[in-house]
Amino acid sequence: MRSSSQTTEPWRVGVLFSQSGFMAVIEETQLRGTLTAIEEVNAAGGINGRPIEPVIYDPGSESRAFGRFAKKLMVDDGVSTIFGCYTSSSRRAVLPVVERLNGLLWYPTLYEGFEFSPNVIYTGAAPNQNSVELCRLLMEMYGRRFFFIGSDYVYPRESNRIMGELVRASGGEVVGERYLRLNAERREFSPLLREVKEAQPDVIFSTVVGESTVFLYQTYHDFGFDPKVMPIASLTTTEAEIQAMGHDVGEGHVTAAPYFQGVGGARNSSFVHLYKKRYGEDQSTNMCLEAAYFQVHLFAKTLELTNSLDTEVLRTSALGVELDAPQGKVAVNPVCGHTDLWTRIGRANRQGQFDIVYSSPSRVRADPYLIGYARSLAFA
Ligand code: ACM
Repeated sequence: MRSSSQTTEPWRVGVLFSQSGFMAVIEETQLRGTLTAIEEVNAAGGINGRPIEPVIYDPGSESRAFGRFAKKLMVDDGVSTIFGCYTSSSRRAVLPVVERLNGLLWYPTLYEGFEFSPNVIYTGAAPNQNSVELCRLLMEMYGRRFFFIGSDYVYPRESNRIMGELVRASGGEVVGERYLRLNAERREFSPLLREVKEAQPDVIFSTVVGESTVFLYQTYHDFGFDPKVMPIASLTTTEAEIQAMGHDVGEGHVTAAPYFQGVGGARNSSFVHLYKKRYGEDQSTNMCLEAAYFQVHLFAKTLELTNSLDTEVLRTSALGVELDAPQGKVAVNPVCGHTDLWTRIGRANRQGQFDIVYSSPSRVRADPYLIGYARSLAFA
């Protein structure tokens, strides 16, 4: 364990988010969220008198580069704690590195669940914190026929497997399931939306991520579909993608998330104010940025207690830590290392913000293996 009682040396941490390539539209905001929190902690005197110093690399939207940079951080830069990753494929590239070298990855993105690693703290939503409620609400508001469109990698395929099970368990039907490469261009979406037109679903469930999200919604708009009748529903389309596609294009579509900029509350107001002051009045916060932000504060709160970056000490102490986050009070669940978060469903408005149509009465316990849900089905 590194002793630190006398020193004012910085706490060095790794930061891995894409600032270039097709994932930058959202990962750049996660980088900003991370840096906003680090600056805030440092402005308040650091942790036990020592500032946090980020060592930042840009993996350029390439999953394998995340693995390479994680190794560089741990071997060359002597860093053991890493904040980073959006896509599940980038997380999976970092996993063997942190597991072999005993690092700790703080992962601030919703994902498909069904994973546990003693070398990861998960601060984005698991399927029981977004998909379950989203499925219920979509069936209630729009109908039972779903068409799935996804980027072709692990998160969309697994997330659709789960959504498919939820839909069928509630008497619904999946009438189409199509995937496009991760960096698909706009013209590639037209044939898919022609298929949608033929299949006449009640809802498109999108697991498209990054810049392609913009192309999916723009092509939908070009086809003249009506979001009041057949919206695109998603777990990943945030204020950032809506800004990139145009507010008129995003209006009426539905997203499930622990956080939207418009959730209200004093803690969120100060966060939004701080962010806009730093990055511009026209910039919005979003769920991925918020998780990137609050997980640094979770880390800081834990490090204040441990005064050590030793992975075992840090992770053990992080379990159970509670924090007043912009979304509300959150806590690292000690059973699974995922975070207990709020469930919300929003519908995008003309201002590029989300009107909240559902909010959970309290934070929802992380259940990444859907154990509680399976049990509730078995006993229904
Ligand atoms: C994701 O790939 N976890 C959005």
